[in-house]
Amino acid sequence: MAVSLKGRDFVSLHDFTSEEVRQFLDTAHSLKRQSTMGVMDRPLAGKTLGMIFSKPSTRTRISFEVGIWQLGGMGLFLSSQELQLRRGETIEDTAKVLSRYLSGIMIRTHAHQDVLDLAAHSSIPVINGLTDLLHPCQALSDLLTISEKKGRVEGIKLAFVGDGANNMVHSLLFAGAKTGMHVTVGAPRGYEPSAEIMEQAREDARWTGAQLEVTNDAEAAVSDADVVYADVWASMGQEEEGAKRLDELADFQVNEPLWQHVRWDAIFMHCLPAHRGEEVTEAILDGPMSVVFDQAENRLHAQKAIMALTM
Ligand code: CP
Ligand code: NVA
Repeated sequence: MAVSLKGRDFVSLHDFTSEEVRQFLDTAHSLKRQSTMGVMDRPLAGKTLGMIFSKPSTRTRISFEVGIWQLGGMGLFLSSQELQLRRGETIEDTAKVLSRYLSGIMIRTHAHQDVLDLAAHSSIPVINGLTDLLHPCQALSDLLTISEKKGRVEGIKLAFVGDGANNMVHSLLFAGAKTGMHVTVGAPRGYEPSAEIMEQAREDARWTGAQLEVTNDAEAAVSDADVVYADVWASMGQEEEGAKRLDELADFQVNEPLWQHVRWDAIFMHCLPAHRGEEVTEAILDGPMSVVFDQAENRLHAQKAIMALTM
């Protein structure tokens, strides 16, 4: 029996049981099917989603805005630069005020703690649209893409290569842990995932049998992988470290020689935006193995499931 997720915050996949993650995925599949058939249910008619952005976005902003509209509701873009937050109004007061107008809040910001604080003081669901620590909406969409491309997620081997300490990796570790997908992170020394996230994800993985591993050897990481995943080497907010990261991550580029080690039917994934010639070569990103634009589309379907179930 599916449990009700109404009113729940969507801050991290770690906060949900495996069954609840499955419920998000099943709903995403079904909303995608409906939209392919031209069926337009409007379960969120009359509801409003405020979308606070302290960082740029193409996919997250547009997919949430279109998604809430397709569900019958309305999205409001709120730049953090234009809110009183910029002039020192507290997150607590902002949360209480927004809760009087809106039905849900999506926020993309720097400090993860800000999202936790917003959620703690809001009486409406808060959705994490990316923090320095996590990117759960992307990871849920990626599970949808993997299940479409591979027919399942359980038992699939996903290898992430590059900056192993970023938000994408952390959320993919939880995504694997909750669904039984094995995740191997290939990153140079000093770029390994947060020890705390690794411990929490391994705890979650005890229930599903997902194997979560970290190696400093890119070839070993991708060996026999079904899915190879890359992300930018300098995430938003790390721009000044760009040159240093280019140098230190150079051996962790996803390129044709590395591709020799993957399974014959492996797919390449990237949350986008991508930097061709840095974390991935053009031949891979634009090659037949790449599913990055299907991945981008699935943000829409997965986030519609998040909104429809929680709001
Ligand atoms: N993948 C992703 O979150 O893209 P945007 O930064 O464009 O939202
Ligand atoms: N790790 C990247 C993801 C962008 C969607 C960043 O935080 O910039």
